[in-house]
Amino acid sequence: MTIREILLSLDGVEATYNHAIRALSGVHLTVRTGEIVALLGANGAGKTTTLKALSALLGAERGQVTGGSITYDGSDAVRRWPYELVRQGLVQVLEGRHCFRSLTVEDNLVVGGLARRRSRTEHRRDLDQIYALFPRLRDKRRTLAGLASGGEQQMTAIGRALMAGPRLLVLDEPSMGLAPLLVEAIFDALKALNREEGLSILVAEQNSAVALRHADRAVVLENGRTVLEGTAAELRERDDIKAFYLGFGVVDGAARSH
Ligand SMILES: Nc1ncnc2c1ncn2[C@@H]1O[C@H](COP(=O)(O)OP(=O)(O)OP(=O)(O)O)[C@@H](O)[C@H]1O
Ligand SMILES: [Mg+2]
Repeated sequence: MTIREILLSLDGVEATYNHAIRALSGVHLTVRTGEIVALLGANGAGKTTTLKALSALLGAERGQVTGGSITYDGSDAVRRWPYELVRQGLVQVLEGRHCFRSLTVEDNLVVGGLARRRSRTEHRRDLDQIYALFPRLRDKRRTLAGLASGGEQQMTAIGRALMAGPRLLVLDEPSMGLAPLLVEAIFDALKALNREEGLSILVAEQNSAVALRHADRAVVLENGRTVLEGTAAELRERDDIKAFYLGFGVVDGAARSH
């Protein structure tokens, strides 16, 4: 068995907003090269805050990391600029499928690749690769992103992140508000990128069923801390997880593991 290197590691991460509201109080998680890791938890558990902390985006929300460590590709990721991390391949698709609404779908994709020095041929190849992954985007490439459907906007947001050449793609609730078939198409595309390109993926989801079907491992957050961690196969078999941590009612008599 080959031991894969740790690409991202969070150890005991604590974070606040406005120096007052404690949002994270002990988040532990690791992503190894080539893995898909799901970050699960109910509303307000701290998924978005965790993803923003590890991408150096908390400052923009008047948030700050107050404890613990975050290491990406061997170096400290806490006191960094977001663009430096993007250049190192840590690229995030934010919650809510942000697109430039008055640009076409294709121009949205092009924007994602601007920070990279690519020849015209490489650039065209990158675009073609995204259209192969999401054929609907090729059909809609001249449509204004603001007029595209929710699913097409999510694919555009993911495509734009891919144009930046990620090694670790971080996604915040890509399934939100989308029909099950579209959610499946998006997760299948992520899985294909993982399998064929070795892309590492960290995906936050409330939709634990879909995430656990596609991930290798999962980490569960509750009230801003890691409460459970395991292989996706192990977690799929535990019915109590949904009841305890993901806000789907209570199971009598079962014990929490933390
Ligand atoms: N900009 C902010 N200012 C102040 N508090 C915030 C801010 N964003 C989030 N919080 C608080 O931090 C905690 C964690 O929120 P976070 O958005 O990280 O959770 P989440 O797991 O992503 O939830 P959801 O599933 O609803 O997206 C919550 O108590 C939330 O109210
Ligand atoms: Mg969130």
